[in-house]
Amino acid sequence: MKQGFIGFGNLAKAVYRGLKEEKNMEFAYFDLSRKEVNIPYFEEMGHLLVFADVIWLTVKPQDLGNVLTRLKQHDISGKTIVSPVAGKPIAYIEQFLGKEQRVVRIMPNLAMAYRKSVTAFATNQPGNREAMKIYELLGKLGKVVELEESGFDLFTSVFGSGPAFILAFIQIFKDKMQEFNLPGSLLDELLLELTRGTTDYFAQNQQQYSIEELIQNITSKGGTTQAGLEYFRTHEIGKHFEGVLDAARDRSAEMSRNGNG
Ligand SMILES: NC(=O)c1ccc[n+]([C@@H]2O[C@H](COP(=O)([O-])OP(=O)(O)OC[C@H]3O[C@@H](n4cnc5c(N)ncnc54)[C@H](OP(=O)(O)O)[C@@H]3O)[C@@H](O)[C@H]2O)c1
Repeated sequence: MKQGFIGFGNLAKAVYRGLKEEKNMEFAYFDLSRKEVNIPYFEEMGHLLVFADVIWLTVKPQDLGNVLTRLKQHDISGKTIVSPVAGKPIAYIEQFLGKEQRVVRIMPNLAMAYRKSVTAFATNQPGNREAMKIYELLGKLGKVVELEESGFDLFTSVFGSGPAFILAFIQIFKDKMQEFNLPGSLLDELLLELTRGTTDYFAQNQQQYSIEELIQNITSKGGTTQAGLEYFRTHEIGKHFEGVLDAARDRSAEMSRNGNG
């Protein structure tokens, strides 16, 4: 399968890293400038389109309109368009390329590079063999779930932006540890181990216990965790954090509306 990227930034790089060891896979890209990557670079978009079976629209939302305007000047029938572009529905892409064009919309995150993304999938050709090939490909890059497009805004806030929010939380832990005067790199290692230990604990017990029960298991009556959790609940930290997810979801919805207009 020949993967062609239009725009070779962070996300294209993550897809490439995640897939580069796969058999029978070739890669190339078109971008405004050559990037530091050892795959063919096409200076003309048209040349990439001749090469590729699958065309990844890996550009920022504000650049998508320009790219689609150029794309529609070429014959890309039979090829599959994959768009990870936040807030841009399939209908937006169809306005340029027509309803016959096979489009797969996805919402992944950068953990694709380590095959640990959680990716939402929607297509205008459900059940189509080529579209399902993309579904299978995404399964190699982590977990994939087929979703109505109406769910993409919420999904984007949790799983697309989620890594940034979890890291922002970890940064709070790190800031708190500054008073120990440990080197930053050691702090990062310690926090990484904390995160890994927590995800392992979650992974090994999640079939038997709810998250609430897992929290209870590390909370002794009158102890330190309980004191912290009480503060968490009294000050409605969870509710405030929901505000973070709501803001991201609302922004995604806003971008979708602009995209349709
Ligand atoms: N990053 C994430 O975690 C993530 C997660 C989910 C979805 N997404 C979606 O993935 C898309 C790409 O995000 P990204 O983080 O990879 O962005 P990025 O790092 O900014 O990469 C975009 C690339 O496209 C190039 N470009 C801009 N205009 C172009 C044009 N007209 N033709 C060809 N190439 C062009 C840029 O070149 P220059 O560098 O020269 O400007 C850059 O190399 C976005 O729409 C985003 O919503 C990203």
